[in-house]
Amino acid sequence: MNTQTNFVTLNNGIKMPYVGLGVFRVTQQDEAAAAVSEALASGYKSIDTAAIYGNEEGVGAGIKQSGVKREEIFLTTKLWNEVQRTGNVYDAFQESLDKMGVDYVDLYLIHWPVKEKYCASWEAMMKIYESKRARAIGVSNFNIHHLEDILAMGGVVPAVNQFECHPQLSQTELTDYCKSKGIQPEAWSPLGAAKNGLFENEAIVSIAKKYGKSPAQVILRWDIQRGIVTIPKSTNPGRIKENLNIFDFSLTDDDMSAINSLNENKRVGSDPETFTF
Ligand code: A2P
Repeated sequence: MNTQTNFVTLNNGIKMPYVGLGVFRVTQQDEAAAAVSEALASGYKSIDTAAIYGNEEGVGAGIKQSGVKREEIFLTTKLWNEVQRTGNVYDAFQESLDKMGVDYVDLYLIHWPVKEKYCASWEAMMKIYESKRARAIGVSNFNIHHLEDILAMGGVVPAVNQFECHPQLSQTELTDYCKSKGIQPEAWSPLGAAKNGLFENEAIVSIAKKYGKSPAQVILRWDIQRGIVTIPKSTNPGRIKENLNIFDFSLTDDDMSAINSLNENKRVGSDPETFTF
């Protein structure tokens, strides 16, 4: 894989940027709009939101403010859990489109594997895909056994699985499994472990110094060199730019191993096996 290129090709042939802007916990519409238009002005081509984030209007407004053409943007949103329980998937999808003011998304994901519901949700996702209002469909927070259930349906293979991934939760087995099935792995909270002191970690800091990069840039570079799409969240214009500026250096195998060795299987978010929402 050439990690100097800044996109991957998904299993249906469409291209997805390696780095996107995440907007989880950006709850104010104007704040979301500002972050999205800042990111697009800085060269981002991918924005990741979700119905549950409550900021789809802001994301849509940010896209309009940016002046960047819709077809140049890779836009992701996600189907919320409660909708999987009620079964109103098509209405929820249309609501997301309406809130963002767009007539298609590039990627629509099942947000969490709601027990006994996610296979039915996948049926609905496949119909949405057939309607061409989502250029690709995928899942999020699915472990191997959840993916096996989806694959056993014999329909569309998810284009993407987005899951929590950072140096303290390196998700090697899940990443390898996804790749073996043609499912693109994508990291959420790639910088989330900063709250556990990861930006001060000796190995990360010394690698960062070596390349004149920040700890955040080293961690994001580690993602893409593992073939993992990454979506760091930031509302700070300087950090938004910093997080995209990772295509002018490469980590060595030793650097990669040093970061790999920081894995503790430690989460900052919910566990797909035990989540209750
Ligand atoms: P902020 O929005 O103020 O930049 P993640 O998406 O991995 O969960 O991490 C997001 C957190 O990391 C946010 O608190 C965000 O804050 C912060 N963050 C994002 N980019 C950087 C960076 N380059 N350096 C330091 N902190 C960052």
